[in-house]
Parts: sequence; structure tokens; C-alpha cells
Amino acid sequence: MTLPREAVLKELELLPVWRRRATVAAVEPVVARAADVVPAVAAVMDETTPRVDVMMDQMQAPTVVDIPVEAYDASMPVEEAEFIPNEVLAKPDVDVPLGESRRAAIMQMDWEALRECVANCQSCALAETRTQTVFGVGDPNADWLLVGEAPGAEEDKRGEPFVGQAGKLLDNMLAAIQLKRGEKVYIANVLKCRPPENRDPHGEEVVKCDPFLKRQVELIRPKLIVAMGRFAAQSILNTDAAIGVLRGKLHDYHGVPVVVTYHPAYLLRNLPDKAKAWEDLCFARATMQQLQSTATPPSI
Ligand code: URA
Repeated sequence: MTLPREAVLKELELLPVWRRRATVAAVEPVVARAADVVPAVAAVMDETTPRVDVMMDQMQAPTVVDIPVEAYDASMPVEEAEFIPNEVLAKPDVDVPLGESRRAAIMQMDWEALRECVANCQSCALAETRTQTVFGVGDPNADWLLVGEAPGAEEDKRGEPFVGQAGKLLDNMLAAIQLKRGEKVYIANVLKCRPPENRDPHGEEVVKCDPFLKRQVELIRPKLIVAMGRFAAQSILNTDAAIGVLRGKLHDYHGVPVVVTYHPAYLLRNLPDKAKAWEDLCFARATMQQLQSTATPPSI
């Protein structure tokens, strides 16, 4: 069921904040920024960005939110010797073969093998505290891949990403651009296990989990990745740049275009930044329209 736009905006708590403007000029900042990056995307945005989506005051005088950067060492090498094949995991009495490249083995897996490998993963300490792994949810042939940080308490219980309050907001954000969880959309996290007390993921946990996301991307072959939040963006793009710097541009993850936006949980605490998230969604949607309408990907 598609929610009426008013209902969506209400759910997003945008209605009391956003102001309707009489002129089209209000959307120009978005178009201008996209135009710097991808002229064709800007053209699509110009045609399709709904005029209802009136920009709020913050857009004209944007508040720069300085998100603290706590970089992890993404250059840390993946240990080669600790890959434990699924058949061994299923039979813990079997000797674990050493010296096998864990990453290389994961890169050979099909969807089911990957899912099983994630479910059995013991590669970091999070295996001891998780209730279950959270592989991801949605259409394995999706055009859109949305990536968050790591499961929270609710996700850990239910085995599905974004099912708590942040998930509700994410579903509303998707609805605002006529998307729905599971329909041409796949949702995953950088980490497949919940960090205890929802603490920030540790660098070594990211390094161990990273091949899983990479293989998911290879198998799904999405047209576009939306990295939600500082942590997902920095992990995927292997950077310590602040989210404010990464937004509004097209990035690349192993050949797949990436758009960066705020994490829904952050938006729940920082309502004014929902306007910026809306800009990001419009940019993502325009990019997708271009990707779907042409064989030539937008330049990244
Ligand atoms: N936050 C995330 O990053 N992922 C989830 O699955 C839930 C909350």
C-alpha cells in the first residue's frame, strides 16, 4: 500500500518543520549541488523533484552538523588463517584447515552459502554476545541496497535489520520516494552482529565482516547503494571524512555508485537534519532514474 504523501511527511515529522514555498527557486540548492557532480542527474531532479517538497529554512542557512569522526584502521589486513568453512563449523570436532584465505573463500560463495557462513560466523568476539546474526532483508535482485551500521537490540532479537524505531523511520523514508522494504530494495548492515550495549563497532569487527557485505553487493548487483550514517559511509568508502563532506556526491564501491545520507537513528534525534536527508533521497532517486534509463552510468 502506498501512503498518501501527506501521511508520509507526517510520519517523517516534516510537516511542522517544512514550509511550502511559492517558487521553484527553493529547490535550486539541491539541483545545483547535483549539477556539480552529475549534470544528467541534475536534469532528472529538475524534472522530477516534487515542488511540494519545499525546502525549509535550514536549507538556506544550513546548520553544519559536525559528526565526530572516529576512524578505524581500514587498512588492517584480513587475517588469512582463520577462515572456517561451513562444513567444519557444522562439525566442530573436525580440524580447522589453516592458511586458507577467508576473504577469497567468501568471494566464491553463492547466496545460501553466504547466508549460512554469516549465521555460523565465529570470526570475532561479537559471536559470543549476539542472539543471532542479521544477514539482511529484501529482494536479492534489488536495484537499491541500503546499508546501515549494525543490528541493535531489536534486530538482534528478530534477526532482521531496521525493525526498531529507526526502521520505522527508514520505511517512511522509503515510502517518501515510492519504495518499499523488500520490493527492489535490499537492506543490510556493515556488521552482521550486534555490538553489545550498541557501542560503536570496532575496527577488527569491521574487517572481519567486510567480506560479507562485499559478497552481498557482488551477488545482488544493485544499481545504487545508499550508505546510511557516518559509520556505514566511512566503512564502505574507506574514508574518515565527515558525513557532511560525503553527502551530495556520487561515490563508488567496487563499481557500484554510492550515495551517503544520515542514519535514521540519528535523524530521530536531530529532526532538522531530516530536510538534508530528504535532499539526499531526492538525489538518490534522481541518480537511480538516470541509472535505469541509460546504459551509461553517471560519472562518479
Ligand atoms: N541501526 C542499524 O544501523 N542497523 C539496524 O539494523 C538497526 C539500527
